[in-house]
Amino acid sequence: MGTKLIIDTDPGVDDAFAIALAALSEDVDLLGVTTVFGNVPLSATTRNALRLLALCGRGDVPVAAGAERPLVYPHPHRGTYAHGADGLSGRAEVLPQPGRELEPVDAVSLLVSLLEAAEEPVTIAPIGPLTNIALLLAAHPGIREKIDRLVIMGGGLDHGNTTAAAEFNIWSDPEAARRVLVEEHVPCVLVPMDLTHRCAVDADWLAKLAASGSVGAALNGLTPDYVEYYKKALGFAGIAMHDAVAVAEAIRPGILRTEELPVEVECSFGPSRGATVVDRRRPALRAKMNQDAPAVAVAVDTDLDGLRGFVLDRIAGGQS
Ligand code: RIB
Ligand code: CA
Repeated sequence: MGTKLIIDTDPGVDDAFAIALAALSEDVDLLGVTTVFGNVPLSATTRNALRLLALCGRGDVPVAAGAERPLVYPHPHRGTYAHGADGLSGRAEVLPQPGRELEPVDAVSLLVSLLEAAEEPVTIAPIGPLTNIALLLAAHPGIREKIDRLVIMGGGLDHGNTTAAAEFNIWSDPEAARRVLVEEHVPCVLVPMDLTHRCAVDADWLAKLAASGSVGAALNGLTPDYVEYYKKALGFAGIAMHDAVAVAEAIRPGILRTEELPVEVECSFGPSRGATVVDRRRPALRAKMNQDAPAVAVAVDTDLDGLRGFVLDRIAGGQS
């Protein structure tokens, strides 16, 4: 069996693509899904996760709900402007009913039990705010050795999306993001929006997805609000499938090209709150300036068409 994977998510239209990518990939052992507030409130992200796994025929995958708000300060607003009021363009009700009950334990407890039971280190793909991951590492520091790596969708090197400076997942809980990216020394891959925007897919790709089978058709049916938002954000009729790019790296290590770079997270309350400050100065200068923050593998490039084809082929190929 290939990658042992846990996804921490706030579905979310692009989360839906990411969950389907993992759930329909035969070489992925999807151990569990944990949910977090983010695009929409926790109750909605949790319901959406259960129904998306039912859509993919994965009633075998346990789901546990986690943080309903950030670690320290309130969540200023949701991502409904892009994902619709229910997180899935108002179409969540079209999805199948959940194939199983929500786990009776919280997300951190499920993460701990799955990691402790795993015979080898597990990949975790956080594709929403990092609150659950910060809580996991703070409450169970010994669990680090059971984590192979965190493959995180988040951050922006040159600019943000929720604000001029900050990308939504980091902006939603900067304190949690800083704990994970700067203080915890767990192997991290950070997949920033600079790259995920370059991986955007167009109407032709979405049409192929829709024609690929029942799951592809359902996923495409979740996109109308998201397409409307990305027409403005990208300037063409397509979408940025941010989270699917991160999960592609989680399940196909090396599909993204990364650079080891120090990352800081702005936690002040100025205009840059939630910004990821990535130090791209040359190493010799960084050393001279005594820059000793831990390096993060920041995803900087990929074969764009190869990535788009990988996601489409995996989702299409995984449908019975
Ligand atoms: O900025 C993009 C990220 O924020 C994605 O994870 C999307 O689902 C939203 O959560
Ligand atoms: Ca997300």
